[in-house]
Amino acid sequence: MSIRTGSRLVLDLGGPLLWSTCLAAHSTVPCRSDVCAAAAVQDNPWNCSSSTDGRGSDGGGGRGLCACSAYPYNPLNGQCARGDVTTTPMLANVTDGVNPLYPVAFPVHAACAPGALLGSLPSGAVGVAGLSGAPLSLPSQVAASLKVERKFALCLPGGGGTGAAIFGGGPFHLLVVPEEFGMVSNGLSYISYLRNPKNGGFYLDVVGIAVNHRGADVPPDSLALDAGTGHGGVMLSTVAPYTALRPDIYRAVIEAIDAELRLIARAPPSWPFERCYQRSAMWWTRVGPPLATVDLMLRSGGNWTFFGSNMIVQVNEETLCFAIVEMGPTPAMDESPAVIIGGFQLEDNLLVFDLEKGRLGSTGLLYWIRTTCSNFNFSWGTP
Ligand SMILES: *[C@@H]1O[C@H](CO)[C@@H](O)[C@H](O)[C@H]1NC(C)=O
Ligand SMILES: *[C@@H]1O[C@H](CO)[C@@H](O)[C@H](O)[C@H]1NC(C)=O
Ligand SMILES: *[C@@H]1O[C@H](CO)[C@@H](O)[C@H](O)[C@H]1NC(C)=O
Ligand SMILES: *[C@@H]1O[C@H](CO)[C@@H](O)[C@H](O)[C@H]1NC(C)=O
Repeated sequence: MSIRTGSRLVLDLGGPLLWSTCLAAHSTVPCRSDVCAAAAVQDNPWNCSSSTDGRGSDGGGGRGLCACSAYPYNPLNGQCARGDVTTTPMLANVTDGVNPLYPVAFPVHAACAPGALLGSLPSGAVGVAGLSGAPLSLPSQVAASLKVERKFALCLPGGGGTGAAIFGGGPFHLLVVPEEFGMVSNGLSYISYLRNPKNGGFYLDVVGIAVNHRGADVPPDSLALDAGTGHGGVMLSTVAPYTALRPDIYRAVIEAIDAELRLIARAPPSWPFERCYQRSAMWWTRVGPPLATVDLMLRSGGNWTFFGSNMIVQVNEETLCFAIVEMGPTPAMDESPAVIIGGFQLEDNLLVFDLEKGRLGSTGLLYWIRTTCSNFNFSWGTP
């Protein structure tokens, strides 16, 4: 997401704050302030520094002025640091959901991070925008500054397009054929999400997984989020590229895939993907290969359905693979989820995180209504 001309932040659904590299001369925030109190209540689950409480140090050259600090965390490599809380300008475009209307600048509180913390982020990224809904997360700060609702919409583009992140609520329009589908926000359906108190993540309450309607042999409890310890559960991630499954669940899903696709000619594995098929053996519909539909069966009764285009990735001209990976023992993931739904699986689906009501709206795969997340009309409209 761009924040200022040329500066981009990585979006992190579970992140509690904004952070970026800072100039050597940057403003600080007093320790005794509401902002610093908000920074101090941030969970510090990453053991960044267990010897301090985030209240900062004597930044006043011995004059007793205390500068507030916080713990920026890199969700890609699990590293963290300690840095001053500062005030930094954001530049965004106001929209009526149809077009951008005019630019708006507003200040946000962000943590400064050493340049080394940018490791593993995409090149050009200067930091991370946390979206968790914590007081210093981006949606909370936008809501407070611009007096809009604590809601945000994410439409992650596939294939290198430009998607959209819209803060404050709808409506949301996408260019489509036929025209009557233009206001995609009319087609949102909502489910409640769960929050993991340990890592701030958004979770779905899932009791089963099915491949082409064949249930994978996964005990329902194995997918549940333990609200006390923060273990398990099905977490949404804008940082994991592909869906990662705990080894026991991964094996069960692979077995279901094998049973359903046993007649499709295989191709050798293509790292990091294990189950690959010959391109010529699969056919494609508007929503991807029809044999690769995966349902997450929700406790509330419905399903969260991934169609083939969100499950199958083409790795070369002849090979298609299931875009799922087996979770490894990553130290970055203390509150290890059972399933991490990755960015590829969220592409071309307009998602609305309603932090006021604790619910998640989704249009489902936009290909059904002949549009994509790259179809916001970025021409200027008239206010
Ligand atoms: C965090 O640090 C404490 C104290 O150093 C240690 O006991 C604990 O095991 C660490 N936790 C993790 C998850 O690394
Ligand atoms: C705002 O719109 C202008 C013109 O389309 C664009 O160049 C700029 O990147 C947009 N800013 C943001 C923060 O998206
Ligand atoms: C949810 O998915 C399961 C497994 O594919 C299927 O049996 C069930 O009918 C679906 N439920 C709904 C409401 O679509
Ligand atoms: C995009 O928005 C502009 C400004 O409102 C409008 O003139 C143009 O027709 C729109 N483009 C399409 C393809 O609808």
